[in-house]
Amino acid sequence: MKTLKTCLSNKDVLSLIDLSSEEILSILELASRLKKESRRRETDSLLKGKVLAMIFQKPSTRTRVSFETGMYQLGGSVIYLSTNDLQLARGESIEDTARSLSLYVNCIVARLYSHVDVKRLASCATVPVINGLSDTFHPCQILADLLTIQEHKKKLKGLNITWIGDGNNVCNDLLLGCAKMGVNIVVACPHGFEPLDQVVSLGKREGQKTGSEITITDDPSTAVRNADVVVTDTFISMGKSDEKIARTRTFLPRYQVNSKLMKLAKKDAIFMHCLPATRGQEVTSDVIDGKASVVWKEAENRLHVQKALISLLISAKP
Ligand code: CP
Ligand code: NVA
Repeated sequence: MKTLKTCLSNKDVLSLIDLSSEEILSILELASRLKKESRRRETDSLLKGKVLAMIFQKPSTRTRVSFETGMYQLGGSVIYLSTNDLQLARGESIEDTARSLSLYVNCIVARLYSHVDVKRLASCATVPVINGLSDTFHPCQILADLLTIQEHKKKLKGLNITWIGDGNNVCNDLLLGCAKMGVNIVVACPHGFEPLDQVVSLGKREGQKTGSEITITDDPSTAVRNADVVVTDTFISMGKSDEKIARTRTFLPRYQVNSKLMKLAKKDAIFMHCLPATRGQEVTSDVIDGKASVVWKEAENRLHVQKALISLLISAKP
């Protein structure tokens, strides 16, 4: 593999707010190349000698394992740090944790509850910080989603994506990703569960440049008409389990993606979900396990986009 053409030069990726349309395209292009070339093992030493610290305050299957595997495949190493194992648990500040880790490692991935804490970490780290999911954003998920959509639909610009359910962390970054890549997005959510106002405003401003239209509605049936892609996520994100009963009442049955709802989308519409999924809640088994579902490709693409992202952030040979 030749040296990398572009480099994101030591920047933090806390949400897709931090990436331009061109940078997103570069990541997707490199991810596709890495996906093909990984079979030829030409990138085995791209990150030789580099170390990634991974701070996790919440559980994870895909994010943790895809980052770890990706680093190993590129010749680098990882240090997994549960927040309970760090001096953070005894009251050391996030700022001092960031300053200390920056002395040893080349990049930090953080999955924390509060996005404010992720920003505090990034503000004092002198190495790039990647948000591995906070209560408001999940940028790596959306990079993988955009790659998956591009692979299935052979383009991004002009497609129609419909999000059904909670306007949560995944939805916030999906809206920004669509706006930056010229994809139209309709978000169908109950009142009080819309994506963040600041995200919708920013998305609309970006959309004026790329042609992306952004619509927020409470009606899933109209939202899904003409959709090329239907996306949902849990109604009960990590940290929201005390709202389980109230949320289940609010979202069900109206905001469930089932075959009746999928029939209103385009005939060749695909179904996506970041996982973990609760079958019978936000999505029925026949949809997530059915022909339109691309959730396993989506999960696989976490590995490829994160390898691309880290390479562009910390590669020694930009
Ligand atoms: N989609 C996602 O981020 O999955 P994990 O919570 O398993 O990392
Ligand atoms: N919205 C979910 C995504 C999990 C990957 C959560 O925050 O729990």
